[in-house]
Amino acid sequence: MSDIRHQTSDETGQAKPLLEVRDIHLSFKGVRAIDGISFEVLPGELFAIIGPNGAGKTSIFNSVNQVYKPQRGEILWKGRSLMGLKPNKTAELGIARTFQNIALFPHMTVIENILTGRHIRMKRGWLAGAFWVGPAKKEEMINRGKVEDIVDFLEIEQWRKYPVGLLPYGVQKRVELGRALAMEPELLLLDEPVAGMNLEETEDMARFVLDIRDELGIALILVEHDMGLVMDIADRVMVVDFGRKIAEGPPAEVQRNPDVIRAYLGEDFQSAELRAAAVEAAESAVETTEPTN
Ligand SMILES: Nc1ncnc2c1ncn2[C@@H]1O[C@H](COP(=O)(O)OP(=O)(O)OP(=O)(O)O)[C@@H](O)[C@H]1O
Ligand SMILES: [Mg+2]
Repeated sequence: MSDIRHQTSDETGQAKPLLEVRDIHLSFKGVRAIDGISFEVLPGELFAIIGPNGAGKTSIFNSVNQVYKPQRGEILWKGRSLMGLKPNKTAELGIARTFQNIALFPHMTVIENILTGRHIRMKRGWLAGAFWVGPAKKEEMINRGKVEDIVDFLEIEQWRKYPVGLLPYGVQKRVELGRALAMEPELLLLDEPVAGMNLEETEDMARFVLDIRDELGIALILVEHDMGLVMDIADRVMVVDFGRKIAEGPPAEVQRNPDVIRAYLGEDFQSAELRAAAVEAAESAVETTEPTN
């Protein structure tokens, strides 16, 4: 897989942040989607964002790639501001994403869908590629080779010629991941990659996410409601609620944070880990308030 592995430019060992989000604010006609959020993502890091429905997680993604334009704050990519750039420019700079709902072309094959992710890296455009002459032919062949590498990496060879609309949901999500990888990102934003998946599909996806970090050296931001998954695989977790950061740190630390437990107590509790932490916290509170004599 070394040919789709991201080449890091900075080999000095200095862990400078890839992405710096500084105090961003985003409102929609009075609705505060993001109310002063700051965080950093380091090269090769798996950073997770969790929080209840409507907390602002997808809005953070949309702000990073400049689909939404925060009214205040700053977003830096390798020290350069992303504010005001067009979304396709952020993709060119190395930020790719997958969506909360599948956004593929259902009638196109797996290979064709992944190939659409290449357009951002193509110098000669689709039209030149279609005529299959000279440098365009060479570029097309390179693109095809990269797509085949991704197909191998995501273990979807058997479906490569199928229209994606006919494939199982878990495979479609993998194809979407493949399309994002085809952009050769340095940072991948994954919006609920395992939502609606069964246990086996979830475990497969978790393995691919870890391989993307460990084998390809790509940094990721993972937004996910599956708390077991987040706590298992993330390097660091940021918790948001009502557009604000309420906690950030290693998974084990975050899941014991009382503010986090409180935020999730209002939710229907899907997370065994958080439920256990909440019960533990409640029990110790009872112990400390019980009369001692
Ligand atoms: N384009 C938009 N126009 C108006 N309001 C929006 C828009 N996008 C997001 N919002 C609002 O911003 C808030 C945050 O939404 P967002 O989609 O970022 O939440 P989320 O954390 O991703 O939630 P979920 O877990 O349900 O996906 C919500 O109140 C939402 O209704
Ligand atoms: Mg969302």
